[in-house]
Amino acid sequence: MTLRDYFQLVRRWALLVVLGSLLAAAAAYFLTTRMSPVYQARALILVNQRDNAASAQTVDNINASQSLTKTYALLVTSTINLQRASDVLGGTPGVDTLDKTVSAAAVPETQLIEVLAENKDPGRAAEIANTLANIFPAYIDEAQLPGSVDRAQKNTVFVAEPATAPDSPIRPNKKVNVALGLILGLVVMVAAVALVEYFDDGINDRDDIEALGVPFLGSVFEAAVPRGADKATWVPSIIEAAPGDTLIESYRQVQASLAFALTAGDVKVLLVTSPGQGEGKSTTAANLAEALAESSKKVLLIDGDLRKPDAHRYFSLPNSSGLTSTFLVDPQALPAFIGRVGDSLSVLTGGPVAPNPTELLSSRKMRATISALAEPYDVVVIDCPPMLGLADASLWMPLVDGVLLVARRGKTRRGPLEETIAAVRSGHKPLLGVVLNGSDRKKSYKYAYRYGYGYKAKNSER
Ligand SMILES: Nc1ncnc2c1ncn2[C@@H]1O[C@H](COP(=O)(O)OP(=O)(O)OP(=O)(O)O)[C@@H](O)[C@H]1O
Ligand SMILES: [Mg+2]
Repeated sequence: MTLRDYFQLVRRWALLVVLGSLLAAAAAYFLTTRMSPVYQARALILVNQRDNAASAQTVDNINASQSLTKTYALLVTSTINLQRASDVLGGTPGVDTLDKTVSAAAVPETQLIEVLAENKDPGRAAEIANTLANIFPAYIDEAQLPGSVDRAQKNTVFVAEPATAPDSPIRPNKKVNVALGLILGLVVMVAAVALVEYFDDGINDRDDIEALGVPFLGSVFEAAVPRGADKATWVPSIIEAAPGDTLIESYRQVQASLAFALTAGDVKVLLVTSPGQGEGKSTTAANLAEALAESSKKVLLIDGDLRKPDAHRYFSLPNSSGLTSTFLVDPQALPAFIGRVGDSLSVLTGGPVAPNPTELLSSRKMRATISALAEPYDVVVIDCPPMLGLADASLWMPLVDGVLLVARRGKTRRGPLEETIAAVRSGHKPLLGVVLNGSDRKKSYKYAYRYGYGYKAKNSER
């Protein structure tokens, strides 16, 4: 992948990724507002070690008092102290609850113990922290040698700073939660995009086609049904399109590449097929036949889809007779079935649907008919059924000189296209290339705009 591909990838998905992340952040905000807040209150206890002979501030003494502070910190949350605190608080919260909601720890490098109590009520949190701190001196007093009444001989603790009711809760933290939601949303969206891109086996652009080792003949954008047109009967035809329409331009470009490939491969009879249904075989065959005819070639379009003939729709021709009718006549009578569309283009429609297409296609008569039909023309384009799932396209293969494939963006998958390419190759007929049908419309418009602008400027300079 080039840097440009990465840039396009970012452009394609940026909006979705941003929306997904914002949605996750909004969900985090909503959930945070639904959570009940928890407050934390803090009391500080100072530990004084008993005087001893070497009361000087030696390293040993400082270490000893700090380890004493750590020991006492553990005692703050001992079951006895918790039980006593619970009793003072009237039995609620109980020891188990206190065990989960209070903590005590020595403040590093000091002789201070920090007593923390959490509660949904800020005042109650302060009350619990203070109770634990207030009853602690008596507990420590009891724990020391009885009879050593001299205070100097005892370690003492006292409440250095009582807890006050906190103003703001420690949980939930809206800012942190929203930021986490945003980051999580971003990570999930980016991972999802990476997965989609990794598993996307659709044929979307030129690179996807060239990666299969076949020539790319050009792309045709997805045309919109014109306003007022009947959706059921409308077909994207360049005959119907207004002059200068982007559709005409894109088919002209494909036609230029195709004309070159036809000459280079010495191909006169060209089969147009695709892996599956509805990928634009008939549309491509009809429009390319018209574009080739416009480039002053004598062209015959044959509707070779004996199951679902469609070519007549592109030229508003009747289909009461056509290819299937030619089986009953002599070669001399064939021209009678051919319709004329303009000076250079002739069309042989499909005719009535045949009950036995495979038999017709494999018959000797069909071979003779196609060569007789092709005789007076420069190029014969045959619109054919899909390659996969039906024998028809394979039966057409011996009757033609070369094959053109159509892939539809958003519909054709890599696997079936590969299978189709392999089938064409096994038929030993040259594959002239693949036309990408239904490419990105915006890109085509942008291109057309640039082209039109440059052209106009040149004219006006004259
Ligand atoms: N470039 C395009 N822009 C807009 N619509 C298109 C385009 N190409 C094809 N279509 C529409 O898609 C549908 C299928 O196209 P088409 O009949 O050419 O496909 P097909 O491969 O010949 O189908 P089938 O396998 O049934 O013969 C038609 O309705 C056609 O109008
Ligand atoms: Mg068709």
